[in-house]
Amino acid sequence: MAERYIVTSALPYVNNIPHLGNLIGSVLPADVYSRWLRMKGKEVIYICGTDEHGTPITVSARKEGVTPRELADKYYAIIKDCFERFDIKFDNFSRTTKPIHYEMTTHFFTKLHENGYIHKEDMNLPFCPTCEHFLPDRYVEGICPNCGAEGARGDQCDACQTVHDPEDLEEPYCVTCHTKPEWRITAHWFLDLPKLAPELKTWLEAKTDWPANARNFPLAWIKEGLKPRAITRDIEWGVPVPLEDAEGKVIYVWFDAPIGYISSTIEWCENEGRTDEWKKYWYNDEAKLIHFLGKDNVPFHTIIWPGMLIGMREDFNLPHYIASFEYLNFEGQKFSKSRGVGIWIDQALDIYPVDYWRYALLANAPQTRDTDFSMAELKRRINDELADIMGNFVHRTLTFTHRFFGGKIPERGPLAEADQELLATIEKARQKIDARMDVYDLKGALHEVIMLAKEGNRFFNDRAPWKTMKTDPVAAGTAINLCAQVVGALAVVSSPFIPRSAQLMWEAVGSEGLAEERAWDEVVTVEAGTAVPEPTPLFVKIEDENKKKKAAKSKSVVKETKKKEGGKPMITFDEFEKIDLRVAVIKTAEQVEGTKKLLKLTVDVGEEEPRTLVAGIADQYKAEDLPGRRIVVLINLKPAKIRGIISNGMLLAAEVGEDVGLLTIDKELDAGAKVL
Ligand code: MF3
Ligand code: ZN
Repeated sequence: MAERYIVTSALPYVNNIPHLGNLIGSVLPADVYSRWLRMKGKEVIYICGTDEHGTPITVSARKEGVTPRELADKYYAIIKDCFERFDIKFDNFSRTTKPIHYEMTTHFFTKLHENGYIHKEDMNLPFCPTCEHFLPDRYVEGICPNCGAEGARGDQCDACQTVHDPEDLEEPYCVTCHTKPEWRITAHWFLDLPKLAPELKTWLEAKTDWPANARNFPLAWIKEGLKPRAITRDIEWGVPVPLEDAEGKVIYVWFDAPIGYISSTIEWCENEGRTDEWKKYWYNDEAKLIHFLGKDNVPFHTIIWPGMLIGMREDFNLPHYIASFEYLNFEGQKFSKSRGVGIWIDQALDIYPVDYWRYALLANAPQTRDTDFSMAELKRRINDELADIMGNFVHRTLTFTHRFFGGKIPERGPLAEADQELLATIEKARQKIDARMDVYDLKGALHEVIMLAKEGNRFFNDRAPWKTMKTDPVAAGTAINLCAQVVGALAVVSSPFIPRSAQLMWEAVGSEGLAEERAWDEVVTVEAGTAVPEPTPLFVKIEDENKKKKAAKSKSVVKETKKKEGGKPMITFDEFEKIDLRVAVIKTAEQVEGTKKLLKLTVDVGEEEPRTLVAGIADQYKAEDLPGRRIVVLINLKPAKIRGIISNGMLLAAEVGEDVGLLTIDKELDAGAKVL
């Protein structure tokens, strides 16, 4: 049986758009890691969602003049869309405001309470006399009791990551009106960390392979002596405390958020139509739970969250590994919206293509120390590594194939020693990449990918097929054949990191299907005689700003194609041509059981058998009105499983808010007719 994994990235707060530092601080590396595991044939789900409760959200909502729910709806849509455009392949991206999450959080609180790990205590808390409410967490700031930094929040200090209570802050003030708070007594519920400490300690001590920042700090905190943590708050936004004497109180965001990993898994299972399968991922050591997160999240994932899991006494899996990342700085400074430092993930793709960012960020991943990212560094990485090493190698191999072998991969003659060595190098490269990935060193693994391309270039130079073509064409053909094997292997091993470019490399050597669906460990063979497409450069070098300005002045410059117009980036005709739209006649339609919105349709698209699709139009169209209608269907969309039904294509519809209209054809054209 395949090993099972749950990979998670920290749920982003739903009050703003993540920046590049957030992206490389958990979501992107988790994506790469889970893509690699999938290719290795493991059973893996990559789970995330938005973190929608807590004072971060209420404070922002107040600033934007909207309700927390309105704020959450807005940013959930934006964040989800940005991650999709970065090719982040979540199995599920949920929200902590879904009913299933409330259910699970309530279950956790109730059970921990029953098990004696939650108790009630009176607390002396800051209350703002001007604003007339308590000041939990981010509503109060002051001087950090641990490091002396100013502007430390009530629950945690940004500068030293120490978690504390508002009472510990020196010179506290209300963030809304800067009034000095009064102190009032109010009851709250506490997670009994001292009771859980011995088990946490034993568990953490065994994790000798964890990064220092994920193990040493929590062990030191345990040594100092853990204190009970308040896990309820006096605000309105959150999961209500499920106890009679707790009216008006909600559960602390850091108690409910990690439960989001579980509720998002449950939602995924339900969408897939396998309701109970989530248990295989969460119980009895049947799966490895791997959390990717930024260092500020370490205390919550190494003490509070595992403490909760232990205290449930339900045999929940504890985190197997914590991949904790340090901070990324931008051009020598901290990312800061107000000071205009940094790039946010909704803007980045208007500047460069997705794989440029993925590559440059992963190559500079802040794995062991805070790392600086700069546009000059990005340019150097793209030009000197992606374009000059990888792109160039692929390009020269294909150009040669076209110039001298009629666009077909040449036959292999007898293999010389250098040829044998190259084949061995491919195999070794994969092992080296695996060795890095095994210890979560994504940056090191990516370096090995580039080294393989570098070896390819070195081989090409040494074998000099442009010379031997005249004297020994068989040797030249052999060299090119072997280079094509390297390109095929590169497509596979680069796929977790730069999936789009990997697919282009895959197609460049005439391979079919998807590179990302290839088994990682299987040797790629590009057969002699395979026709390869005309080469187009994989990566375009980034020009100097000065040169760019000059070029922009000259009239010959083709208009920038990456500019946004009406929301989405411009595409070329070639890109449009990849879309296969057809006229389809609806044969049958029925409601998908247990859903309000979904219809299951079978449609004739001019193929032997009708296709099945699932469409979310049930609130606008009655199933019985649909058969016979002539609609438009995108037929080359990768099939997706929706509620256990494989949907093989997508119908086109226009929408304004809730109002949806199907695209239809105003002539009786045959099913299967192309839409251009
Ligand atoms: N929203 C938190 C942050 O951005 C991370 C939550 S991670 C989870 O710092 F485990 F709680 F979900
Ligand atoms: Zn105030």
